[in-house]
Amino acid sequence: MTEAKKTAKLELDGETYELPVYSPTAGPDVIDIRKLFAQAKVFTYDPGFTSTASCDSTITFIDGVKGELLHRGYPIDQLAEKSHYLEVCYLLLYGELPSAAELEKFEQTITRHTMLHEQMQNFFRGFRRDAHPMAIMVGVVGAMSAFYHDSTDPNDRKQREIASHRLIAKMPTIAAWAYKYSIGQPFVYPRNDLDYASNFLRMCFAVPAEDYEVNPILSRAMDRIFTLHADHEQNASTSTVRLASSSGANPFACIAAGIACLWGPAHGGANQACLEMLEEIGTPDRIPEYIARAKDKEDPFRLMGFGHRVYKNFDPRATVMKQSADEVLELLGVENNPKLQVAKALEAEALADPYFAEKKLFPNVDFYSGIILEAMGFPTSMFTPIFALSRTVGWISQWEEQLDDPQLKIGRPRQLYQGETSRDYVEIENR
Ligand code: SDX
Repeated sequence: MTEAKKTAKLELDGETYELPVYSPTAGPDVIDIRKLFAQAKVFTYDPGFTSTASCDSTITFIDGVKGELLHRGYPIDQLAEKSHYLEVCYLLLYGELPSAAELEKFEQTITRHTMLHEQMQNFFRGFRRDAHPMAIMVGVVGAMSAFYHDSTDPNDRKQREIASHRLIAKMPTIAAWAYKYSIGQPFVYPRNDLDYASNFLRMCFAVPAEDYEVNPILSRAMDRIFTLHADHEQNASTSTVRLASSSGANPFACIAAGIACLWGPAHGGANQACLEMLEEIGTPDRIPEYIARAKDKEDPFRLMGFGHRVYKNFDPRATVMKQSADEVLELLGVENNPKLQVAKALEAEALADPYFAEKKLFPNVDFYSGIILEAMGFPTSMFTPIFALSRTVGWISQWEEQLDDPQLKIGRPRQLYQGETSRDYVEIENR
């Protein structure tokens, strides 16, 4: 924690309270209210945490005005272009870009943890075939705490590192097997001679009767999608992981909680919801109808893949994703994909509409990702599992950082109580 360089004064009921103000290395100053209740017997009120910093962090920084996303200080567009997912994983976990030797050792470690305990296949087989893959991921990741007892203690640094490596390494296998199970095909085992993204694509699309030759362009695009989703400050699912971990829960239980939160359509589920929306719109001539619905306060419909709590000009990940969509679809010879045409027309019409400009709404990371994933052959139900796979390193890095925080206490928010005050029980015959 940095030292307070100034204070804020709160005047309330004739009393004045001085609150320390800390200045970060980037972003807004923060007012330390930790002693407020003890001093003034009042709570602050911030549903949705729109103005609340929940922790210190050195991992990721977002400048919502500039549309900047930094991972340990490195801009996302540079990492997407010059780095690759496992190197970004190392950077997020350990704070610095690895040397060649460090990277080789890390990649070998991850590669050798990609297999799942053979008995865990029984979990997949316990689900209905039409179970959403996110339901399977929540269940299987939570169940890892029943199979990897030697890496469940959050107070043991070595166990934490093994759990981190296991989760990063096994998520592609879990996601791929959830997909295979849903289409009634046998599980395909990981191979140690393939890179991370290629291994995932092969586990999804190979069959015993015919192997799957990984197209290097697709595996590069897949790897870039992983990188673009790796971490994002204290978003809803990361905050869920931190809150779960604050009680001392084991890493697999915490990550399962993060997967559950990410599933929602307002968060990681938006990529699936966005593609379903583009399918429903169908053709560019129907866009005005949907834009009108998105603007109608009486209509709960929102443009999926649009808007963001923090970005107020553009989401830098969407910029990279849009370029990647053009490249991949052209390479696949589907640049005339109707959904891509609708997406581009929808983006143009929405951004030209004063409503979206005033409310600072524009495409976020989920707007174009689904188009690429569908072109690669994934069903929409696999879009959020791929987001969860990618975000696991972010959750784990934030989990590790919190466990190292000397200020760590169990998270326990208070409330603005609007219910009944104390009243006596009424016997049923008197009601
Ligand atoms: C992710 O936090 C993260 O970092 C998340 C994420 C990550 O990497 O972890 O970036 C990933 O979750 C991206 C967001 C994916 N979700 C969607 O695309 C779903 C559609 N978007 C919205 O639900 C919404 O924009 C949110 C949830 C993304 C942000 O919601 P906020 O910050 O709470 O904003 P809000 O709901 O208060 O909206 C502000 C105004 C409202 O109008 P008013 O009440 O002020 O009149 O903008 C309107 C909203 O009605 N609005 C939209 C809109 N999003 C907000 N109107 C139409 N379409 C939309 N998409």
